[in-house]
Amino acid sequence: QTKIVRITDVEKDKALLEEAGRIIRDGGIVVFPTETVYGIGANGLDPDCCRSIYEAKGRPSDNPLILTVPDQAGAKKIAASVSPTAQKLLDTFWPGPLTIIFPRKACVPDAATGGLDTVAVRCPDHAIAHAFLQAAGVPVAAPSANLSGRPSPTTAEEVAHDMNGRVDMIIDGGPCHIGVESTIVECNDDGGVTILRPGGVTLDMLQAVVGEVHIDPNMVTGKGVPKAPGMKYRHYAPAAPMTVYVGSVAAVQQAMKEQYEALTAAGKKVGFLVSREVGEIFPHDAMYIWGSHDDKASLASQLYTGLLNFDAVQVDYILAEGTDEDGLGMAIMNRMKKSAGGDVRHVQG
Ligand code: TXA
Ligand code: MG
Repeated sequence: QTKIVRITDVEKDKALLEEAGRIIRDGGIVVFPTETVYGIGANGLDPDCCRSIYEAKGRPSDNPLILTVPDQAGAKKIAASVSPTAQKLLDTFWPGPLTIIFPRKACVPDAATGGLDTVAVRCPDHAIAHAFLQAAGVPVAAPSANLSGRPSPTTAEEVAHDMNGRVDMIIDGGPCHIGVESTIVECNDDGGVTILRPGGVTLDMLQAVVGEVHIDPNMVTGKGVPKAPGMKYRHYAPAAPMTVYVGSVAAVQQAMKEQYEALTAAGKKVGFLVSREVGEIFPHDAMYIWGSHDDKASLASQLYTGLLNFDAVQVDYILAEGTDEDGLGMAIMNRMKKSAGGDVRHVQG
C-alpha cells in the first residue's frame, strides 16, 4: 500500500516529512521530488534497504546508487576524503544538480556502490528534498524513480504510474524544475574533473571553477565501459521508435515532413516532440510542444514528460526535435540519443 502525500509547504507539512523520515529509518522506501527528477529513496547505509530499491526498480544490481545528503556535513560522513578540487565544487555548486564521486568510507555498503571503492554523493537544491533528508537523518540512496529503462519521472503522476504499490510513500512536490538528471563528475589528481554524465551543471559552469574538464570518452562513443556504469544501459526509452532532428526550424520541418509523409502513407501513427515553431506545420493530435526553438531549459524540463506522453497516446513512431550540444544541450542530447537508440540526424538549410 503506497501512501501518496502532497506537500506544498515544508513548515506546514512538517508532520508528513517527519513521517517520511521515520519510514526511511524503519527500512522503508520513499519517493521524493528534487530539482532534477524524482528519486526513489531508502537508507543508503543499510544493504537490505539498498537491495529493496533495486527490486522496486527492476534494476541490475551492478549499477551503483547515488547517496543523497542535505548538506556538506552529510557528504563528509560517507566520503573518506575530500580533495581541494572537490571542496571547490561543493562550495560552488551545492546544493544543486552536481553529483561528485568520492572515495568511500567503510560505512557505505557494497550494496550501494555495486562493489566500487567510490561513492557518488549529491545534495539536491529543493526545499522538500532538503527537509526530507534532514528528517531521515541518514544518507538516502536515491536513483531516479522510474522502472529500469524507462524515462525518469518529473511529476508525481509519472512516479505513481511506475511505482504505485512498490513503495511505502510518494511525496508529491509538483513538477521537477530542471527535468534531466544531475551532472556526475570525478575529480582528477591534476585539479581537473571528468564528466561521467552530463546534466544541469554544464561544461562551461565547471570550466569556470576547476582546471581542465574532461568528458568520459566512453560516455560519448557508447563503446567501451563508461565510468558511470548506468550509462551503458538502454535508457530513457519510450515504447515507440524515435528519430531526432537537429538544425534550423526550416531544415527540421522539411526533414520531418518527408519522414512524416512516408510513415503516414504506411499507416503509422506519428507523434511529434517539437518546439512551437517546428510544430506549426504539423497536425496537432499527437503533438507534444516543449517551448520555443532556442529554449533549452524548456526542452530539458519537458523531455521526459513528452516521451512518456507518447506511451499514453500510443503512437507507432516519434519524430523529435533536438538541440546543439552547448550548455544544457549536452545533457539533453545525451538523453535523446539513448531514447532514439542513436538515430540523431543533423539537417542543413
Ligand atoms: O539527478 C539525479 O542524479 C537523480 C536524482 C533522483 O537525484 N538521480 C539519478 O540516479 O539520476 P540514477 O541512479 O538514475 O543514476 C545514477 C548514476 C548511474 O549512471 C550510476 O552508474 C552512476 O550514477 N554512479 C553511481 N555511483 C557511481 C560511482 N561510484 N562511480 C561512477 N558512477 C556512479
Ligand atoms: Mg536513472
